[in-house]
Amino acid sequence: MPTVRKTHLEPSRIAPDTFLVHDHAGEGQAPVLVPLNSLVIRGAEPVVVDTGMPENREQFLSDVFSIVEPEDIRWVFISHDDIDHTGNLTALMDAAPNAVAVLNWFMTQRMGGSLDVPPHRWRWVGDGESFDVGDRALHAIRPPIFDSPTTRGLFDPTPGVYWSSDSFATPMLTPTRDVAELDSAFWTNGQVTFDNYMSPWLPIVDDRRFQATVDRVASLDPAVIVGCHTPAITGDRVATAIANTRRSPTASFDPEPDQSVLDGLLGAVVAA
Ligand SMILES: [Fe+2]
Ligand SMILES: [Fe+2]
Repeated sequence: MPTVRKTHLEPSRIAPDTFLVHDHAGEGQAPVLVPLNSLVIRGAEPVVVDTGMPENREQFLSDVFSIVEPEDIRWVFISHDDIDHTGNLTALMDAAPNAVAVLNWFMTQRMGGSLDVPPHRWRWVGDGESFDVGDRALHAIRPPIFDSPTTRGLFDPTPGVYWSSDSFATPMLTPTRDVAELDSAFWTNGQVTFDNYMSPWLPIVDDRRFQATVDRVASLDPAVIVGCHTPAITGDRVATAIANTRRSPTASFDPEPDQSVLDGLLGAVVAA
């Protein structure tokens, strides 16, 4: 693939003391871009939520440390054990000597030797559990869509921000801060498509039980939903995102790129 200079978005303040750290994949290489975000909560005990991809390490650390000093970080919450969420965990823990990694038991099993953080710096927080960050508790709530059994989202009740991990995901055409910048039909199609890629069992789930998992997030009444693979979801679009998710098990969606798409990409590279 040709090397393309990646657009950098400065972190977005999405609520008081709460910042979305932006990254994305696919720029100049694919028809759509995939967001790859993380979150920083700058409270009494600052929290970093997910740690991005290894190839973005320098920019990720620079963005995080532009918001909070490394030695002030007390918690690094990992939503699940995929590389786009754990890619800079070791680097961040090395740079933040007072941080504890918020994981769960199964994550430590699945990551095995790739989890290069000593156990005395772990804290296990499962779905439905909470942890105290000095001036409030944050709540681990599994989102309706997920691609790892270790997944928990994170709800901060003070600003009403829910970190959805891989749920509420969408592609984007250009680096984008807020889904308000997306065409609404593109967003709806993108969300149901990514939901079905992420959780391919959606069409076979019991709809009543699935809707209950969406109800669980809706009942938090979040003012803002942010996740690894979506621009920020704010205002009236929170309700739209939740409604889109409710439709995902029955909605039609775009097929995954197949070999013919790869052939086209490789042909373009050869021709360039
Ligand atoms: Fe994932
Ligand atoms: Fe992810």
